[in-house]
Amino acid sequence: MKVISVEGLSFRYRRAKDYSLRDVSFEVKKGEMLGIIGPSGSGKSTLCLTLNGIIPNSIKGDFEGDVIIRDPRTGEEHSTRETPVPHLSTVVGLVLQNPESQLFNMTVEEEIAFGLENLGLDRNEILRRLRWVLEVTGLKGLEKEFPPNLSGGQQQRLAIAAVLAMEPSIIVLDEPTSQLDPVGKKEVLGLISLLNREHGITVVLVEHHTDYVLRYADRVLVMDGGRIILEGRPEEIAEEAETLKGLGVKLPASLEVSHELRKRGLLDRPALTPEELLSRLARPSR
Ligand SMILES: Nc1ncnc2c1ncn2[C@@H]1O[C@H](COP(=O)(O)OP(=O)(O)O)[C@@H](O)[C@H]1O
Ligand SMILES: [Mg+2]
Repeated sequence: MKVISVEGLSFRYRRAKDYSLRDVSFEVKKGEMLGIIGPSGSGKSTLCLTLNGIIPNSIKGDFEGDVIIRDPRTGEEHSTRETPVPHLSTVVGLVLQNPESQLFNMTVEEEIAFGLENLGLDRNEILRRLRWVLEVTGLKGLEKEFPPNLSGGQQQRLAIAAVLAMEPSIIVLDEPTSQLDPVGKKEVLGLISLLNREHGITVVLVEHHTDYVLRYADRVLVMDGGRIILEGRPEEIAEEAETLKGLGVKLPASLEVSHELRKRGLLDRPALTPEELLSRLARPSR
């Protein structure tokens, strides 16, 4: 079942000279993890903002094409042009790059409950969801903490918890680990995998860490200049090392090494992870 259909989407911000998205079309299936990579300024964040309707409902401009979100629980289809953002946010949750910018309550639990109170849910339902998200995101025990006192990884997990509490079936994350130290990155990427694999949440992940995207995503889009220039499974994208390098996308070390070995005829196809590279080099047939 398709949960996101983007068709012929173009967008130009108000007063901008150029379009930031140009004739973008793709689909996302229920339960999939879609990775999006591309150089800075290629339109990744703009695309994220179109998926929960912030563009064109709150940020206006020239908008062409359609973004259709299907709620797998009800089967209802929503065109983002016609659906208010608060309604869409119960189907598509959006997590931004910078955790501090999304946190504004005095305690962890108030931060999570905030959106739920706005939904008008009753107290028992709020408590049920609060307990669940604290558990999944590993924030149990920190309910009364002041969010700015948390580590970067905890703050980003809290931002994810607040989005999860709305029980969206799709989560869109825009470079959620870019402000984090290596421990925080690991915590957040681990949580995203868990949500996708164990909880069946559909994930759209814009991520600077190409190695993570190639390792975990089911499918990858590569953007440049507001367009999708490549789309495929991680193994297919890995074949395009030269194109990715040309765009200035940082390749994972295993791919960089594979690329050099292939040029020398020492490897037949790229290795997506260091483990795969080592095990293939250890065997006579590569
Ligand atoms: N609010 C805005 N107003 C005008 N132009 C913008 C705005 N936000 C982004 N852009 C432009 O849109 C293009 C794509 O930006 P963005 O979606 O942020 O790319 P990415 O996330 O891939 O770095 C860039 O040329 C950027 O300058
Ligand atoms: Mg961006």
